[in-house]
Amino acid sequence: MEYPVESIRAAFPSLASGAVFFDGPGGTQVPQAVIDAVGSYYRESNANEHGPFAASRRSDEAVAEGRRAMADFLNARSPDEIVFGANMTTLTLHLARALGRDLGPGDEIVVTRLDHDANIAPWLHLEERGVVVRWLEFIPDDCTLDLSGLERRINERTRLVAVGAASNAFGTINDMPRIIAAAKQAGALTFVDAVHYAPHRPIDVQRLDCDFLACSPYKFYGPHSGVLYGKREALERLRPYKVRPSRAAIPDGFETGTKSHEAIAGVAAAVDFLSAIGDPARNGSGRRQRLPQALAAVMEHESRLFRRLMDGLLGMEGLRLYGIADPGRLDQRTPTACFNLSGIAAGDVARRLGAAGIQVWDGDYYAWEAMRFLGLGDKGGAVRAGICLYNDESEVDRFLHELGRIARAGSFEPDLR
Ligand SMILES: Cc1ncc(COP(=O)(O)O)c(C=O)c1O
Repeated sequence: MEYPVESIRAAFPSLASGAVFFDGPGGTQVPQAVIDAVGSYYRESNANEHGPFAASRRSDEAVAEGRRAMADFLNARSPDEIVFGANMTTLTLHLARALGRDLGPGDEIVVTRLDHDANIAPWLHLEERGVVVRWLEFIPDDCTLDLSGLERRINERTRLVAVGAASNAFGTINDMPRIIAAAKQAGALTFVDAVHYAPHRPIDVQRLDCDFLACSPYKFYGPHSGVLYGKREALERLRPYKVRPSRAAIPDGFETGTKSHEAIAGVAAAVDFLSAIGDPARNGSGRRQRLPQALAAVMEHESRLFRRLMDGLLGMEGLRLYGIADPGRLDQRTPTACFNLSGIAAGDVARRLGAAGIQVWDGDYYAWEAMRFLGLGDKGGAVRAGICLYNDESEVDRFLHELGRIARAGSFEPDLR
């Protein structure tokens, strides 16, 4: 299938600004269909849930459709395994608190040094209960997890292994099947942070066989919101903190207070949009079956652009790239590049690119442990440029051209544009 990049770009109104959006790992733009779904919710269904009137019933249906859409997106067995929340961080803190009720001295949790702090700090809070947190380290040369100590780190005291599917800083894709298998072997639960992975690779929670997985629809063309998948048995075993009058059954029991119904309506539209890539006529129908094929087309497009980006970056004098650089191993990372230019602060590079209409992030992007481990924590971190499904070749070239100019000008270029 020829990847329809032009019609995809036309679906995103904000791209008309002419900016280059390489800030996708921090949050993507949304297609008109998502904007329309949020607007329609407000026009036609705006009411709180479970009420005795039509608008409330429509609101309930919007939430139910959001759960079905996310169950399709993750290939969950049932929409009841989908919990909505404000964002991944809030959901993970909430889950950690519920899991922590049954943990104490003698119990261990395994986390990784490579992860976003939203998949580290919630588990560190459980140290207050006497839980021991053990670390999986990463190899600084290519920013891949060091799994040599895996079986030592995960043992009969391990209650939970919390790992990212992909690093939001370096793009590294972790060996989830191996890590989940080791956790299962030890009888531990597994929590997967798929926030950075979800826009770039299909997810199948049944095949992964993880207990929990979290992602954030605003990273895959939906509204600001978070989603927690929990295997039915795993969710049912927990006692989440909640107020007494709210429903206790899953998934509602995990959803504290009023949900963002309008965002959930937008989430369903985002999943419909993704599933229809390459076949707009079938928008929405056969969503679960179509998603793997649609996402494979996205992956191929992103990989092609990423190879072009990496060729340019690796050829640039004075550029230090973090993560896997070997052209033969680029499929082991998402299309997210992380680098520094010698002698120029990451913040300056990002600001100058921003002034040229190119949006990238700099800093630690909350991969706080990883950046400190690389010695970049107090040095402004690094620049991060991420490709996503609406980017095209000319944007990669424009980015490389501008970055080359910045590199050649060095740190003394006045920032007057
Ligand atoms: C890998 C990863 N995990 C977790 C998060 C936190 O997600 P949220 O903003 O939904 O709390 C992010 C956000 O950038 C992320 O990239």
